[in-house]
Amino acid sequence: HKDLLDVSQLSRDDVAVVMKTAASFREINARPVKKVPTLKGRSVVLFFAEPSTRTKTSFDMAGKRLSADTFALTKSGSSLVKGESLKDTVLTLLAMNPDAIVIRHGESGAAAFVAERVSCAVINAGDGRHAHPTQALLDAFTLLEKWGTLADKTVCILGDIAHSRVARSNVILLSMLGANVRLCGPRTLLPPSVDGWGVEVHSDLKKAVAGAHAVMCLRLQLERQQAGLLPDLREYAGRFCLSSATLTGADPDVKVLHPGPINRGIEISSELADAGQSLILDQVASGVAVRMALLHLFITRKDRGDKE
Ligand code: CP
Repeated sequence: HKDLLDVSQLSRDDVAVVMKTAASFREINARPVKKVPTLKGRSVVLFFAEPSTRTKTSFDMAGKRLSADTFALTKSGSSLVKGESLKDTVLTLLAMNPDAIVIRHGESGAAAFVAERVSCAVINAGDGRHAHPTQALLDAFTLLEKWGTLADKTVCILGDIAHSRVARSNVILLSMLGANVRLCGPRTLLPPSVDGWGVEVHSDLKKAVAGAHAVMCLRLQLERQQAGLLPDLREYAGRFCLSSATLTGADPDVKVLHPGPINRGIEISSELADAGQSLILDQVASGVAVRMALLHLFITRKDRGDKE
């Protein structure tokens, strides 16, 4: 593939290559000097038209640790605010001959729109509520590091499913890797299409976490709620906040994930977010290794003679 738009384009073999490559890069991140010459002379544009801490910083670190030159552009610092279109912005960036464009955008389909118009690799760093493939890959990497396999594991994804690109990409990838996936949230935060996703759907937290080996909490995306449909936060937290108490009934060794940023006390208790079973910061660390693997694999695709 020229681009990474979502995990649905990947085969199990493709995912295995990403995981193996990420594992080989992971130890670089623990060295005192965290740099190898793998992508020396290559250029990566980080075009973030929506805010980001984890994805933007980890792609930047990933590129730099592989010796690529990285160039970061945000919406507020770009000529988008002067009225330049997305098409003209990316054609302008392409004229500088980057090897890859990493894009985050508020509109679903924005990464595909860009990929169709440029010859370099495009990596989707989150587009609207559509997809966040690099997050799903780093979540799977984190769980595989703990368990070795996802087969016969039950993973519950909890919270604002309706607005979540993380949930959509994770449902596809976790299912592909053999996990039993459950979704849980209030009916108002489950998308109308959810019954066709091929996974269990719950609105009762106790039932959703029963026997689960991992629970992935999602942020209540307050900025994407339609006017008038914002849930009452106290009521939401009362029914769906994950804590040691509400995790009773899960597997005794249950792991807790969250893609971040977290709303402490709303979708996850502060105490649980910091507990030993929380993998939240492991996910962040995995993000650097997985994004190193993705930059390497997509930028050197032509050198390896891979097919489209
Ligand atoms: N998980 C995630 O995408 O976080 P950021 O928005 O901080 O990049």
